[in-house]
Amino acid sequence: MSEFETILTDVADGVATITINRPKALNALNLQVLTDTTDAATAYDADDSIKAIIITGSEKAFAAGADIKEMSSLDFSTAYKADWFAGWTRLTDVRKPVITAVGGYALGGGCELAMMGDILIASTKAKFGQPEINLGVLPGMGGSQRLTRAIGKAKAMDMCLTGRMMGAEEAERSGLVARIVEPEALLDTANEIAQTIASKSRIASAMVKEAVNTAFETTLEQGLRYERRLFHSSLATNDQSEGMAAFVEKRDPNFTDS
Ligand code: CAA
Repeated sequence: MSEFETILTDVADGVATITINRPKALNALNLQVLTDTTDAATAYDADDSIKAIIITGSEKAFAAGADIKEMSSLDFSTAYKADWFAGWTRLTDVRKPVITAVGGYALGGGCELAMMGDILIASTKAKFGQPEINLGVLPGMGGSQRLTRAIGKAKAMDMCLTGRMMGAEEAERSGLVARIVEPEALLDTANEIAQTIASKSRIASAMVKEAVNTAFETTLEQGLRYERRLFHSSLATNDQSEGMAAFVEKRDPNFTDS
């Protein structure tokens, strides 16, 4: 993949890693990070050899939020016309599983970016927060919506109204984080999870992602029907025949993503 200004990219064994790399600004998310991250993720999504994507930052900061210096002179008409932050939906449009691995600060847009992934893992040193209230604004990349769905109204209100930070343990207890690991194990764990997913049928993992995400968009009845229809569709895949045959024959499956 071509060189990017604000991210590093790496591909190993079917897993692509995007590392946000603006250390001097604690990985603040300016427009270039948005473009680089979403361009890379979109390209990996289209690349048949990639099965899962990891997004991470540094040990100190996953991302300390949207770039306050870039936003300080932003006015309403410019932001409204450009639909500021809407570009991040390119990331949530990615159909392959996305793991976000948070080492340090995930604040404001950083917390919101971490929540755009499918599995959020954190180091014991991670700190999450929506401190936009301290700047006289509110979350703008999904914090009021995704955080509320992840941890419920009581804690989301607490976080967004006070701007306080939440450590990794509270974040896991609250349902924001899937797993906590020691800082030095963060990337290895993200890779292990990605490799586990990469060993499955890509069609099945895309269907899982669609089904779980539908739970956030619809009623229980419609969601259950949608899940059943996807399940029925999965019976049309070679990977279903192979997966079930392998179980019966007591051997490992050889999925072909077909
Ligand atoms: N935007 C731009 N620059 C940032 C930044 C941000 N969000 N966060 C940190 N930086 C810069 C600092 O300005 C500083 O740069 P200089 O050395 O040039 O002054 C550098 O990164 C290091 O930061 P600190 O010196 O502040 O580091 P620290 O260790 O003392 O503090 C911190 C770390 C608590 C994370 C602190 O930097 C901080 O509070 N950052 C801002 C967090 C924030 O408010 N995020 C929300 C942004 S708004 C948003 O995200 C809107 C949305 O919903 C999308």
